[in-house]
Amino acid sequence: MAKLQVTLASFILTVFPRLAARLNPITHVFNPDIVLPIQPLPHIYPDLDTPAATSIFSGITTFARLSWVDCLSIANESDSSRHFDIDVGFLGVPFDTGTSYRPGARFGPSAIRAGSRRTALAGGYNVPLSANPFKSGLKIVDCGDVPLSPFDNRLALETIQDAYSILFQKENNPWFISLGGDSTINLPILRSIHKVYSSGVPLVHFGSRLDTWKPSSSREVNHLSSLYRAAREGLIKNGSSIHLAHRTALFSPEDYHQDEQLGFSRIEARDIDKIGVTGIISKIRQTIEGAGPIYLSISIDALDPAHAPATSNPETGGWTLRELRSILKGLDGVPILSASITEVAPAYDTSAEVTGIAAADIIFDILTLMTKTPITTVDSSSD
Ligand SMILES: *[C@@H]1O[C@H](CO)[C@@H](O)[C@H](O)[C@H]1NC(C)=O
Ligand SMILES: *[C@@H]1O[C@H](CO)[C@@H](O)[C@H](O)[C@H]1NC(C)=O
Repeated sequence: MAKLQVTLASFILTVFPRLAARLNPITHVFNPDIVLPIQPLPHIYPDLDTPAATSIFSGITTFARLSWVDCLSIANESDSSRHFDIDVGFLGVPFDTGTSYRPGARFGPSAIRAGSRRTALAGGYNVPLSANPFKSGLKIVDCGDVPLSPFDNRLALETIQDAYSILFQKENNPWFISLGGDSTINLPILRSIHKVYSSGVPLVHFGSRLDTWKPSSSREVNHLSSLYRAAREGLIKNGSSIHLAHRTALFSPEDYHQDEQLGFSRIEARDIDKIGVTGIISKIRQTIEGAGPIYLSISIDALDPAHAPATSNPETGGWTLRELRSILKGLDGVPILSASITEVAPAYDTSAEVTGIAAADIIFDILTLMTKTPITTVDSSSD
């Protein structure tokens, strides 16, 4: 009897392939409007015109299973007849030799991509932000990784700066969401923004550390001093920039004083108990008000290690993923010039990939914020 049922079912599904596509959640999870990098397998499902036979766990991994485009090569072609029409690109920056404790964030881009397989599941509508970034009409692609030397830090940082300078120069003002890499990568990215837009940007920086420690010599470049250098080089808008979720021990209270001199405000991780998510959102909005599009930098260690164990410098007492995402929702309407997510070091993750998934979900919110509030102009006069 059971055998007959199976045979009958197979018969019906063979005759009505569209019904089969509807019944099988694996063959029909995608919104057909989303361009998939992987095409249907015509020899298996000849009658299906929807992207069948692909699933969220098969195929080559790109961010949210978007198409892969070699943005850097196209942007850097001397032949300018090839129009650069990408609006938002995900760019991996696999650099981790500026880290002070556990190495491994060079594998961050691939872990975040793996964590993002489910991002466009069932179409990608972001409920808290009431928008679907994948249906914004913008061309969103995975740009692959910046090719970096693992042997020469100075060369690698120069390559990052060159790559972003080339990309930011495109007339259509494309945005990039950088998949780090340790937080040192913010320095060359901010340098290229300054070079292209001739302006310092308001920085909204989530992370367990300030990253504004003074380097001990002019040769020293690492994640702990990356924002010290950025501020001293005028890459960050003095008085309109803020750190959130920091909670490390300090050399002395003088560290905070120095940070203020560099132009930052601060909300410590433990402040959430006093002022709550709403209080944090209003303080951020006050700080950046009227300062123009922000650079949003999220070090995954803003989260508590319970939510994101796979990171270079785990620090207890951080925020939950829900708290962080509620704060991001509070930035709805704030124009974002560029964003980075750093310090994902997947070798320390659980086998449930919690850190890679957390990073991917944070990026989903950032992407939604960006596509909801496109940047029209970047004001360089008020610098
Ligand atoms: C851009 O192209 C030039 C000339 O072909 C090459 O030397 C340079 O390395 C390229 N830059 C990047 C970042 O790919
Ligand atoms: C930022 O502005 C304050 C107040 O005007 C000033 O004391 C400080 O030196 C400035 N910092 C930088 C890095 O320009």
